[in-house]
Amino acid sequence: MTEELQVPAGVDPTVPAPARMYDYFLGGHNNFLADRDVADQVREMIPEVIDAAWANRGFHQRAARWLAERGIRQFIDIGSGLPTVGNTHDVVQDVAPDARVVYVDHDPMVLAYSGQLLAGNPHATVVFADLRDPASVLGNPDLKALIDFAEPVGLMMTAVTHFVAPSADPWGLVARYVQVLASGSYLVLSQVTNDKTPPRSVRVAEEMYAKGTEQIYFRNKADIERFFDGLDMVSPDGTAAGVVHVGEWGADDPDLADSDGSRWLYCGVARCP
Ligand SMILES: C[S@@+](CC[C@H](N)C(=O)[O-])C[C@H]1O[C@@H](n2cnc3c(N)ncnc32)[C@H](O)[C@@H]1O
Repeated sequence: MTEELQVPAGVDPTVPAPARMYDYFLGGHNNFLADRDVADQVREMIPEVIDAAWANRGFHQRAARWLAERGIRQFIDIGSGLPTVGNTHDVVQDVAPDARVVYVDHDPMVLAYSGQLLAGNPHATVVFADLRDPASVLGNPDLKALIDFAEPVGLMMTAVTHFVAPSADPWGLVARYVQVLASGSYLVLSQVTNDKTPPRSVRVAEEMYAKGTEQIYFRNKADIERFFDGLDMVSPDGTAAGVVHVGEWGADDPDLADSDGSRWLYCGVARCP
């Protein structure tokens, strides 16, 4: 693959990074040998990891579109990852061309590649910030230029809280973001789980991610439900609202969606009262 890939300032291509491993799982080319090596070892242990990545990405896109169809016109996408097919702004601007999207990530590769993609797009931008520092995210001037906190916001936090250690209080951090949102805003969140997954596979994945820039933290369903405390869970299709596996939320075919890969992540969408 592409070792002639441009290495943006601040990126060490010899240390695997979650954004580039995820890009590799999704079939992208914005990754280096070190990312592919570790990702391949994860895939050896968890063959359904590619299905898991696609199931998660599908959830992200369905939820973003669902929010846009319900009139949400501004989105903050935290832990946005490298540009891929069907980015948040592609999905929501397909519904509403004037929908605004702010991407937030702390990986300099994401900043560089998303920045190139979004150059000249007045309705979308990327902010380089760490979600563990909410003041720096919410106070960022580029974010504030696009987001009006008096109006509802779609807050997307998919496949990112599992890179936040328990000691950094991921639940408190999510609550900090939610508390500044207007009534009628939504939280969209997904995260890897160790519920009913083989303990040895979980252990190997933890060991593999520990070789990179970010440790990964699997959580059980109850701990993932806690991210939505105080919010009203919503369902897109009349099924019971709640935390479900990523393939299931808004799936066209629930039987097909309930795949082995999908069961590695839980997700939910909830409305701020
Ligand atoms: C697996 S990707 C998920 C991409 C996208 N949200 C999705 O679900 O398709 C995780 C992203 O979260 C970013 N990330 C991890 N920890 C972060 C932090 N503390 N602050 C901001 N971004 C973070 C990584 O750099 C990576 O781009």
